[in-house]
Amino acid sequence: MKQQILKVTENVRIAENVWKMVLESPELEEQKPGQFVNIKLDGLYLRRPISVYDAEPGKLTIIWKTIGKGTRQMAGLEAGETLDVLTGLGNGYDLSKSGDRPLLLGGGVGVPPLYLLAKRLIAQGKQVTVVLGFNTKAEVFGEAEFKALGCGVTVTTADGSCGIKGFVTDALPEEYSYFYTCGPEPMLKAVYRATKTGGQFSFEERMGCGFGACMGCSCKTITGYKRICREGPVLEKEEILWTD
Ligand SMILES: Cc1cc2nc3c(=O)[nH]c(=O)nc-3n(C[C@H](O)[C@H](O)[C@H](O)COP(=O)(O)OP(=O)(O)OC[C@H]3O[C@@H](n4cnc5c(N)ncnc54)[C@H](O)[C@@H]3O)c2cc1C
Ligand code: FES
Repeated sequence: MKQQILKVTENVRIAENVWKMVLESPELEEQKPGQFVNIKLDGLYLRRPISVYDAEPGKLTIIWKTIGKGTRQMAGLEAGETLDVLTGLGNGYDLSKSGDRPLLLGGGVGVPPLYLLAKRLIAQGKQVTVVLGFNTKAEVFGEAEFKALGCGVTVTTADGSCGIKGFVTDALPEEYSYFYTCGPEPMLKAVYRATKTGGQFSFEERMGCGFGACMGCSCKTITGYKRICREGPVLEKEEILWTD
């Protein structure tokens, strides 16, 4: 974990209530796919955790949905302003288990952490299939970006206004070697039931400190309690214990 001041170099709306921000600093190190950053905002005690969408040394991109005070404040930032950010948080996805034909399943603001993952898997020569799920057409983002990486992309919307009508689990391919997923908990539970291979789930639970000190994000797994912010946010399918 590293605390640093990053400069906003771009901040644009990309879909209904969804924003994309580029942050830069010469000090900024490489981030792993599935890791997150924790952002300090004016007048708010708790930092806001947001997944890494894309990263290279010196540059970090995030995508988020405006929910409450913190994420709305972020939408109002302009190029040239700075943010106090904790970087390099969380374990990230383990790419070594992907096999040759990994499947990536993202729902809504669970899509962003899959982009850097797809980029790295494609760079390793994997044949990557991505299914992106949204409620409605106005919320869809990322399709062109994943296609540009060389992924096979399917979009689903719950109301059928774009792509296949239904949920990501209605668009699972016949064949895949392993899966990676991130999205709202009902989607993660459906993915857990519908998938036939091993996989990794990223949990975007509510958080307190974000770096392992408060236990506010603790959850029970097959192998004991884990802090989502420290030993997660990525958990293996075999270790997950759903509470209901
Ligand atoms: C590891 C991780 C990665 C995340 N990645 C993304 C992302 O890439 N894009 C995105 O849009 N959202 C992401 N989220 C959710 C995002 O952190 C919340 O939407 C955000 O904190 C809401 O803040 P707010 O002030 O706008 O909302 P408010 O509702 O005003 O927030 C009130 C409090 O609740 C907390 N809170 C509310 N919802 C959540 C939530 N879902 N998770 C954690 N804390 C929450 C806030 O931190 C704050 O302390 C992620 C969450 C986690 C834990
Ligand atoms: S949020 Fe404090 S320990 Fe995880």
